[in-house]
Amino acid sequence: MDLQAIFSRLFDDYKSLNPSVDKIHTLLKNRNETIVNDHIAFRTYNLPQININVLAKAFEVRGYKVKGNYRFKEKKLTANHYENEDFPNAPKIFISQLEVSELSKANQMLINEHYQYILNKLPQHPDIIFANNMGFTPNYKKYQQLREESEYAAWMYVFGFRANHFTIFINHLNNLTSLEDFNEYILENNFVLNASGGIIKGSKEQFLKQSSILADKVNIAFTEDIFEVPACYYEFAQRFPLSNGHLFQGFIAGSADKIFESTDFRK
Ligand code: NI
Repeated sequence: MDLQAIFSRLFDDYKSLNPSVDKIHTLLKNRNETIVNDHIAFRTYNLPQININVLAKAFEVRGYKVKGNYRFKEKKLTANHYENEDFPNAPKIFISQLEVSELSKANQMLINEHYQYILNKLPQHPDIIFANNMGFTPNYKKYQQLREESEYAAWMYVFGFRANHFTIFINHLNNLTSLEDFNEYILENNFVLNASGGIIKGSKEQFLKQSSILADKVNIAFTEDIFEVPACYYEFAQRFPLSNGHLFQGFIAGSADKIFESTDFRK
């Protein structure tokens, strides 16, 4: 499978959980905008057979190289970002993982139970980046227990291996050329932006500004009943040139920390 096929398969799944994506694309296409994807983000647990390095393989064999490491202490996460030197316009890949050993014992047990399920199903899913939740039926009480300590863990428990978000690269738009203008347009069209840490995360001085809509809510069948939970969200990023004239391609930990909260409706 070539990279384009991988991205469109990931995008189709992502869109199906996030109806706002099609609405935003329709709006932008009506304005003759060009939509380029800045990065795709994945989530996982830092456990041996499913950690960042395992998810990264699909991209590393297709020319991606790790270009940055990040630590989100409060959220108990680490992350890497990957770039493709052969195709500089290919989206960057951002993979984060929950440091499970830093959670409470009770939640470590819940995640280990989920991990055992994943390990049993893994042979049927050689391409882990498309594995989704592997047919797992989550338990709502356990979901809530995880969410109390880590919203990230709760999301992972329900949704598993899939793109958590895609990102519109503002620099490639023809008319809405600043993130400020873009956000204003999105708000005028009745979308809700994640305001944690301010609507715009980052600054020109940090070479990256980001914003995102709050995740769409979807109905999920839990063991007890059907409940509505936040799924995936759409992110928007504007990059600025470094002193060498090239656009900054990395991420700002302090900003990403707040973007993670786009799936957190209790904030
Ligand atoms: Ni992102």
